[in-house]
Amino acid sequence: MSGPFLLSERALSLKPSATVAVTSRALELRRQGVDVISMSVGEPDFDTPEHVKAAAIAAIESGKTKYTAVNGIPELREAISAKFARENGLEYAPDCVTVTSGGKQALFNAFFALLNPGDEVLIPAPYWVSYPEMVALTGAVPVAVPTTPESGFLLDPDELEARVTPRTRMIVLNSPGNPTGAVFPPEVLLAVAAVAQRHDLVIVTDEMYEHLVYDAEQVSIGLYAPEHTLTINGASKAYAMTGWRIGYAGGSKGVIAAMNALQSQSTSNASSVSQYATLAALSDQAHTAAFVDMARAAYRERRDRIVSGLNGLGLRTPTPQGAFYVMADTTPIHPDELEAARRILDDARVAVVPGTDFAAPGQVRLSYATSMANIEEVLRRIGGLLG
Ligand SMILES: Cc1ncc(COP(=O)(O)O)c(C=O)c1O
Repeated sequence: MSGPFLLSERALSLKPSATVAVTSRALELRRQGVDVISMSVGEPDFDTPEHVKAAAIAAIESGKTKYTAVNGIPELREAISAKFARENGLEYAPDCVTVTSGGKQALFNAFFALLNPGDEVLIPAPYWVSYPEMVALTGAVPVAVPTTPESGFLLDPDELEARVTPRTRMIVLNSPGNPTGAVFPPEVLLAVAAVAQRHDLVIVTDEMYEHLVYDAEQVSIGLYAPEHTLTINGASKAYAMTGWRIGYAGGSKGVIAAMNALQSQSTSNASSVSQYATLAALSDQAHTAAFVDMARAAYRERRDRIVSGLNGLGLRTPTPQGAFYVMADTTPIHPDELEAARRILDDARVAVVPGTDFAAPGQVRLSYATSMANIEEVLRRIGGLLG
């Protein structure tokens, strides 16, 4: 493009998503009236719990509709500080906590507060696509640390350390992980913490899926390397609040202050109404725990069904221990995952995400945040394609 709207180098540097073609095709098929089942969405299919909605309505009716402090209302930062202590054993005082517009903005602020051009950032792969893209936007360099389906996508701390160079500045961890569902056990986290301490690296840990853990123990790495860790979390996945846009971070005073300064010049504060809603989610622990337990039990049942179903069809699928995604080996359909995803869409009318953008060749991601009836139908349709 030329003329006045010549795009910036930053905008042009964003990698076009390889999955766009599949997503647009799914939309096109739907427009044509084809009944496509989506297994590609990254959000809970449950509605936001009633007590959270009620708190938001009360906030609107009592006029809590103005700007708040950039880092969030004090009551919410206190509730987050208490949550970190209660659920994760982490000590972040309320002024070491900041509230953002979704987990994404917490990550974005963190990367821009900490990274310089040329810095290297270690990211276990397959990874959530936004990590390398956000890191690259800062001018820093994402460095993938491969993991394999055979190990259940477990990070090998020696593989991690082997990629440390004098330019390495940060490790990004996401456990339970998107797209793999892997949950890193305490011994792996201890070893990663030791790598960070040996090389003086920052650990940015994204714990958005912490409540969606099935057979494993979820541990926060901040327990092992508190001086090195910035912990990111949010309301989206845990409390079925994706549209409310609330994320948060806990870290040292200096980095939180820098994140606040960045946010003060971009979005100011997260939505006031959403902050009061999240306050209810964190404070009314009995109702929230009942919701989380119900959702976790439903996801577990769906996970068991989809894993056994896909393996039964000959598509090798490791059993993930957390989140609500599975990674299926689609090489029996086609060696190239983009082509496999296209066939699954065109011939089985199921939308999945090819692993291309996640650094997961030969695999596709299916989200099981959908009804059991849909899962049964998806297995039937993919079975028809194979058979
Ligand atoms: C690993 C991970 N982190 C962060 C986010 C973003 O969360 P939010 O919707 O709160 O911005 C997502 C959403 O898909 C995610 O999968």
